[in-house]
Amino acid sequence: MNMSGKTVLITGSTDGVGRYVAKRLAAEGANVLIHGRDGERAKTLIAEIAREGHAAPSFYQADLASLAGARALAAAVAADHKRLDVFISNAGIGSLNGGPGRQESADGHELRFAVNYLSGFLLAYLLLPLLKAAAPSRIVNVASLGQHPIDFDDVMITRNYSGTRAYAQSKLAQIMFTIDLAEELKGTGATVNALHPATYMNTTMVRAGGITPVSTVEEGGAAILHLVEGDDVAGQSGLFFNGLRQAQANPQAYDETARARLRKLSLELTSVTP
Ligand SMILES: NC(=O)c1ccc[n+]([C@@H]2O[C@H](COP(=O)([O-])OP(=O)(O)OC[C@H]3O[C@@H](n4cnc5c(N)ncnc54)[C@H](OP(=O)(O)O)[C@@H]3O)[C@@H](O)[C@H]2O)c1
Repeated sequence: MNMSGKTVLITGSTDGVGRYVAKRLAAEGANVLIHGRDGERAKTLIAEIAREGHAAPSFYQADLASLAGARALAAAVAADHKRLDVFISNAGIGSLNGGPGRQESADGHELRFAVNYLSGFLLAYLLLPLLKAAAPSRIVNVASLGQHPIDFDDVMITRNYSGTRAYAQSKLAQIMFTIDLAEELKGTGATVNALHPATYMNTTMVRAGGITPVSTVEEGGAAILHLVEGDDVAGQSGLFFNGLRQAQANPQAYDETARARLRKLSLELTSVTP
């Protein structure tokens, strides 16, 4: 896909791999909508992109640790744009951001499930009219190889909490959603895929986890850009990629009953009517 003039929203683009992808897309002539919580970080990124001679992106500030924040973000984007060519759901927190203990979102949901999965689920549905209007359009869910099956008796992990499990559960939920949404989007010209960008990139969430980075944002960014603009993935949907290659996710992703349970719960929690 030629990105010139295409409108792309990328959540979590004030830092890490999202920031890199935003810069690359701006350099390719896309109309980039950047998002994050921190206005100062956004200003620095906008200035950097403008200094390099590219169109300055618009910044949308929203805290995705609340469903109201996700709704406000979608409303702000929809107020400014009638069409959206690409939605990259990238914002996320790692297993240790904010400490090792269990945390909750403003809505009382386990925080990683809320920020990494549920807000992206809600945003995708709220932005679907814009994406359908721009078809062929693409949704890219930035997930991970770190995947843990969901225990439907304790989705909010009130027992035996660990940040690693919470993070991995939220990432598998993104992939399960990708498979279901692809089915729902058949015939609309909008596609959705998920990926593991790269392992332990040198980003804030990896450093917060005390992990020594082993890859770069350039590497992970290339994998995200492949799903955003690669001609070889045009029309493909419902797939999971490990970097640049299609891969298998955790077996629960292919369990229709589990996906139906997650979908029902997510629709209830977000009050979305598909
Ligand atoms: N790093 C890796 O090795 C790796 C591996 C596999 C998958 N991933 C996935 O890649 C994506 C990007 O990760 P990264 O490593 O680039 O992380 P990062 O450098 O920590 O950046 C995370 C981004 O998400 C935003 N964010 C975090 N919490 C938010 C909230 N409550 N509301 C709104 N925005 C929020 C941050 O905004 P602020 O600037 O406001 O903090 C920031 O822009 C994530 O989905 C992650 O799971 C990363």
